[in-house]
Amino acid sequence: MPRHFLRDDDLTPAEQREVLDLAVAFREDRTVRTPLAGPQGVALVFDKPTLRTQVSFSTGVAEMGGFPLVVDGRLAQVGVRESVADVTRVLDRQVSAIVWRTFGQDRIEEMAAVSRVPVVNALTDDYHPCQLLADLVTIAQHRGGLDALPGQRLVYVGDAANNMAVSYLLAGATAGLHVVVCGPDGYLPTDDVVARADGIAATTGGSVAVTTDAAAAVVGADVVVTDTWVSMGDEDEATQRVADLLPYQVTPDLMAGAKDDALFLHCLPAYRGKEVAGEVIDGPRSVVWDEAENRLHAQKAVLTFLLEQR
Ligand code: NVA
Repeated sequence: MPRHFLRDDDLTPAEQREVLDLAVAFREDRTVRTPLAGPQGVALVFDKPTLRTQVSFSTGVAEMGGFPLVVDGRLAQVGVRESVADVTRVLDRQVSAIVWRTFGQDRIEEMAAVSRVPVVNALTDDYHPCQLLADLVTIAQHRGGLDALPGQRLVYVGDAANNMAVSYLLAGATAGLHVVVCGPDGYLPTDDVVARADGIAATTGGSVAVTTDAAAAVVGADVVVTDTWVSMGDEDEATQRVADLLPYQVTPDLMAGAKDDALFLHCLPAYRGKEVAGEVIDGPRSVVWDEAENRLHAQKAVLTFLLEQR
């Protein structure tokens, strides 16, 4: 059976480190490994909007010696025109891996259950695990390397119930970070996710915490992160969400409460004046462009790791 990457905790701490090491190697030499030489195809299926993910996976697959085959979800209509399982059985006879951005986590789990090739989660409603690999590489890049990751205090402020917040809890705990997620009542992660992250943190020396107090949360933060208040699929709730989350904007004042050298991360797309002030994302502590580039290196690394497990 192939290995899949459907959620952050599909990688053990040792495996996550192996992938992060490989990502750094890819950043230093973009063709250091070419496991898709042939070229072998990789299907990139998008049921939701994309820019970074399509570009970074397409570029990455090509640099790995492969052929990126972008499948527009509006045309493929996975699960509508034909079942998830039937789509998977068609794809896995022709490509070496399937990368899917979709809605429910149950959809990608259904695909993985029948796929004969690795399936990679390129964002679902519940998780964004490729982004977290990129974020960990980015933090390491600005903190002297991967060995510096354990013990970093990362504070996420905003919609703390969304896919990014969940992925920060799980992947951050896996890397031994102290992760705090902060948002208003109604925008906090489920007890189940927090318990899972807590269980991982107990094995890595990390920790996880949830709070509604942003000013207190950022004290001592090495890294401050946020994400859009209106995730893909939440558009109907936009007005209410902006009203509820406005007190949680990452402003220069909030950043001033963190460590002087605290980094600012954002997976993008960003909405200046909503979840983040322009002065912060465009300011000296922001590393969002490195973060976007590191998607490329991190995704090549996880694809290489999964292909090697066959
Ligand atoms: N939480 C956001 C992340 C975008 C990359 C969303 O799901 O739309």
